[in-house]
Amino acid sequence: MKPDPATLRAHLQAVLPSVRADLEALVRIPSVSLLPEHAEDVRRSATAVADLFAREGFDVRLVAIHDAAPAVLASRPAPAGRPTVLLYAHHDVQPAGAEDDWDSPPFIPTERQGRLYGRGAADDKAGIAAHLAAIRAHGDQLPVGVTVFIEGEEESGSETLGQLLERHHDDLRADVIVIADSTNWAVGAPALTTSLRGVFDFYVEVRTLDHALHSGMWGGIAPDALMVLTRLLASLHDDRGNVAVDGLIRGPAPDVAYDETRLRRDGGILDGVDLIGDGSTVERLWTRPALTVIGLDAVRTAEASNTLAPSAKAMISVRLAPGDDPEQAFAAVREHLARQVPWGAQLTISPGYPPGRPVQIDPTGPAFDAARAAFSEAWDGTDLLFVGTGGSIPIVDDFARAFPDAALLVTGVEDPDTRAHSPNEGLHLAEWEKVCLAETLLLHYL
Ligand code: BES
Ligand code: MN
Repeated sequence: MKPDPATLRAHLQAVLPSVRADLEALVRIPSVSLLPEHAEDVRRSATAVADLFAREGFDVRLVAIHDAAPAVLASRPAPAGRPTVLLYAHHDVQPAGAEDDWDSPPFIPTERQGRLYGRGAADDKAGIAAHLAAIRAHGDQLPVGVTVFIEGEEESGSETLGQLLERHHDDLRADVIVIADSTNWAVGAPALTTSLRGVFDFYVEVRTLDHALHSGMWGGIAPDALMVLTRLLASLHDDRGNVAVDGLIRGPAPDVAYDETRLRRDGGILDGVDLIGDGSTVERLWTRPALTVIGLDAVRTAEASNTLAPSAKAMISVRLAPGDDPEQAFAAVREHLARQVPWGAQLTISPGYPPGRPVQIDPTGPAFDAARAAFSEAWDGTDLLFVGTGGSIPIVDDFARAFPDAALLVTGVEDPDTRAHSPNEGLHLAEWEKVCLAETLLLHYL
């Protein structure tokens, strides 16, 4: 007999402490896929994740293309006539950045005021833990087939993901795919994400001199590379803060109110600092391009001397609205830069991490009805919202192409103050428990 929702709720409550402990053990592994010195840690976290699902009776494998970060592929077959659900999350994390910016060490999970702090405590080890919780709550009575796919290179652009999906296409085939890597709308407001921006990044380097020059002897006549670069970067936005590159797609946004006061609070935007760009708040976040200087190579002020810099380099990240294409958009940005570079400086543009395509999901069909029921029940009757996000999850589009008939449910453990990728990333524990309950009920209703 299939347990009823009330029984499942009780089962989940009983297993949550063990899942929480498993989550903390994962957070202790610094699985930073962007940094080669952490390659061994990424492999260790893959093994740790594999062990967790093996203990739930799953058939488990580590899969990787060459020496890329391994993914975990685990499965329990569907009872006759039942659908198969694929549960996705990623076990790699972003770099921690400067430890001094954290209130507790990034790889020591620490609870303060209802949040569990640590790099990856939310993004996305809590997504793995939510899948684990749902499976553990059902015990040996899983009502559907479950395949678990936990990627190891999401935060570094999923370079070999396409090949992995091809190679394991038949193992990954599912009726419903749950991608637990996004955010809820607010604490107390559950959401599925139905549109994601795309992303690509690149390096831009300018050279003006054969070698550094004395700024007194040469300043005023020889252009220094840092000034060239800053003028070039300034040309990327208009005075109101809209991206000034021609040829990028701007879509209309749904009529969702994200009030500026809440947005300013959620984002920690300082008093007196303007929001940039035109259009509604969600239009600017979800359906318009954004362009950010994410890194800069220049002389440090502590080491500065009176010198003209011969070269300077920036790394730029571009977010793309649904409907846009990373290759076309990169061409548009290149053209813009080539046209804008001042004073004949030499310009070199080169691609960064692998790009991710934007996605738009049509949230209709039985899987979305099951999700509506499960999430609303987990949040005590609150309606499930369908929202967009400015973030990117490259695998969503890959799944959509590989399995055009599968329903894509993009769920998430984050809330607007999770600070994923930033110092003091923290998981809202009470909301996470609701995510775990929602996923437990989702498997039941599916
Ligand atoms: N979990 C995020 C994506 C996300 C963030 C979705 C916030 C919704 C709300 C994911 O791990 C991520 O950060 N992705 C990268 C992708 C990139 C490395 C290709 C991103 O968006 O920067
Ligand atoms: Mn993530």
